Amino acid sequence: MRHLIDPTDLTRKETDEIVALALDIIANGEAYSEKMKGKRLATLFYEPSTRTRLSFTSAMMALGGKVLGFSDAASSSVSKGETVEDTVRVVGCFADIIAMRHHIEGAQLAASAVSPVPIINAGDGSHSHPTQTLTDLLTITRELGHVDNITIGFCGDLKYGRTVHSLIKALVRYQGVKIVLISPEELRLPDYIKTDICDKYGIEYTEAESIEAVMGELDILYMTRVQKERFTDEAEYERVKNCFVLDAERMALAKERMAVLHPLPRVNEITREVDSDPRAAYFRQVENGKFVRMALILSLMGWKNEEMKERHEKLEIDGLTCPNHKCITNNEPMERYFYRADNGVHRCYYCDTKAE
Ligand code: CP
Repeated sequence: MRHLIDPTDLTRKETDEIVALALDIIANGEAYSEKMKGKRLATLFYEPSTRTRLSFTSAMMALGGKVLGFSDAASSSVSKGETVEDTVRVVGCFADIIAMRHHIEGAQLAASAVSPVPIINAGDGSHSHPTQTLTDLLTITRELGHVDNITIGFCGDLKYGRTVHSLIKALVRYQGVKIVLISPEELRLPDYIKTDICDKYGIEYTEAESIEAVMGELDILYMTRVQKERFTDEAEYERVKNCFVLDAERMALAKERMAVLHPLPRVNEITREVDSDPRAAYFRQVENGKFVRMALILSLMGWKNEEMKERHEKLEIDGLTCPNHKCITNNEPMERYFYRADNGVHRCYYCDTKAE
């Protein structure tokens, strides 16, 4: 059985096939309208969502399937202390596939180890959001015609921005991609993405002080929200929340053919005046999320007899712990596992944090 927990669970070929299938669904939607007839998707959302949950729901309905689940864990037996592992064992009795969002990092990976049905990670804390990545890749393909040889600027909260982490993991497998990182000092990209992902794949990345300094070079500007809910220090949030704002003045510096993406929701980082610019692609991106999730559900259900490949060799090491208080290993009773990255550093198997 195959799950989607991290973008690298899909090969580059599989990723491209899902994007191609989404394009065919856009062109020939009626042909797919009964493909999931008799099947059920469970959406288990332990954290708020508008786009991801509703696009999964809409996707399954457009395929002729049915949807069950919860959008507030407080209304489920999670509030009585039921673990993620037990929850998916139970829900797997009622559904053929599960999409799960959780504020705890690594929750879906832990769930996938015991689930009787495929698990899709719909976002785990600040860690990963692979179905947003598929949405982003489809959007880039539709806006520019290609993903290879693009210069992409990531702006805003690159530290806690799970959509940024996941998209970079996917982009390193394309040819000639250049990455520009635009963020305040406090919200820089985590080191493991730079060392274990960008450096490993020889991807060029630079850091910029402002949007205007690099706007003219970009094919894609990927804006992100500074996520108040991820900060433990309110003063730090207040200090950085207005750091980078995209407005019409900055759009005037951009190429004629480029696209602005944002996983949404936005707060104030893109002014309303930008919405009417034809290069503002973020609402088209939302719609792409439905089509690519249709393609993903079809693919995972079709791969049910395939084996899931381990991304890393799972190591049990006495004395090592994960220092991330949002990691599943520090929130639920379970074994701790680690892996050895190519640079020799031991990382938590579930959330990639450097072990201590
Ligand atoms: N892009 C995204 O994950 O949006 P939601 O939080 O509304 O699902």
